Amino acid sequence: MKILIVGSGGREHAIAWKVSQSPKAEKIYCAPGNAGIEEYAECVPIGAMEFEKLAAFAKEKEIDLTVVGMDDPLVGGIVDVFEKEGLRVFGPRKNAAVLEGSKAFSKDLMKKYGIPTAAYENFDDPDKALAYLETAEFPIVLKADGLALGKGVLICNTLEEAKDGVREIMLDKHFGAAGNRMVIEEFMTGREVSVLSFVDGKTIKCMTSAQDHKRALDGDQGLNTGGMGTFSPSPFYTPEIDEFCQKHIYQPTVDAMAAEGRPFKGVIFFGLMLTEKGPKVLEYNARFGDPEAQVVLPRMKNDIVDVFEACIDGTLDQIDLQFEDNAAVCVVLASGGYPVSYEKGFPIEGLENLKGRDGVYVFHAGTRKENGRFVTNGGRVLGVTATGPDLKAARANAYEAVKQVTFEKAYCRSDIGKAIDEA
Ligand code: AMP
Ligand code: GLY
Repeated sequence: MKILIVGSGGREHAIAWKVSQSPKAEKIYCAPGNAGIEEYAECVPIGAMEFEKLAAFAKEKEIDLTVVGMDDPLVGGIVDVFEKEGLRVFGPRKNAAVLEGSKAFSKDLMKKYGIPTAAYENFDDPDKALAYLETAEFPIVLKADGLALGKGVLICNTLEEAKDGVREIMLDKHFGAAGNRMVIEEFMTGREVSVLSFVDGKTIKCMTSAQDHKRALDGDQGLNTGGMGTFSPSPFYTPEIDEFCQKHIYQPTVDAMAAEGRPFKGVIFFGLMLTEKGPKVLEYNARFGDPEAQVVLPRMKNDIVDVFEACIDGTLDQIDLQFEDNAAVCVVLASGGYPVSYEKGFPIEGLENLKGRDGVYVFHAGTRKENGRFVTNGGRVLGVTATGPDLKAARANAYEAVKQVTFEKAYCRSDIGKAIDEA
């Protein structure tokens, strides 16, 4: 088969690597890809939002399967464009990707179908949002409705902070049109877990659990980022919690989308908080997590091409999804200054030390090649994943591996996976 992957981050590198393991994959393309992905795929310089160009490329190259990794093209309707052209594509249509594309939609869906989540109100009028805050309890959580690079969530401790937040989102448009509407919701406490799942419109099969580290600095300090590291599985995600979520969250979400005339095919990523009152949904994403994919996919036993095809064909019930009985930890090596401002173009040293090392995967997030050398080209530069028989071993392996690679102003958190010591 000829397979096209759409996207350019560490997640797409992990997908490309996993696809390359399939005996079915004869030729892999990635658009636009990055310098690391070139090891597995021919990268083509077409942007992820250039739907018509991508579809024309897929037709010209007789691509058998396209896999969309990123949220923006999914929410923008890339799957509809491909399907109209008669192309096979893995991912939700526009009317289903709204599960991630509009937080107000997803909150209303959960409310309508009794899926546990934080109490909330939606607003499209800033004055009403400001008035609502006067009687609210703090801390409180403000969310821009639309996609905001994972940065559209503000946790506000005081009325003043929250009022400033509403102004930033709805009036100053810090997150652009994503802030035309907003959600104001109850602040929850607990451990966070990411559960990614494959969905074929009616059947859902969950992948192994993972935990992200969203804040930039050690001890969960600093600004929210796209994710500074992950581990899998989460020791806090017990079989009892899984059973609860299967019954009250996962299947009900898939059924709700079908009942709304928006059958979901692709990956649903459940961002959960394990609160004192049970698991609740923090957010849905309509794609693999990044860097969650970088710890989940290396542990997956199945041929991922089979799973993608089963989701498209509605035969996921026939797939026995299996994961290794091991653990994985991913440490993100970022450019100093990320997520605010950082420099690019520094040569990356030491990658050869990790080449071919068993159980170690270097997924490129923001790199490019200059005169045959890898140089930094983004905020998150590399995701260094290592597996091990258990979480502690995987963590030690990941930190040993990440020490082998460096570039000017490289930065990583030193406490990825610290939570496992409390398990
Ligand atoms: P989201 O993009 O909706 O997952 O939000 C980003 C991060 O903000 C989450 O991973 C949580 O750490 C935090 N967050 C979001 N919603 C809430 C909430 N209702 N209570 C507490 N923290 C939240
Ligand atoms: N790691 C969080 C996300 O992919 O949105």
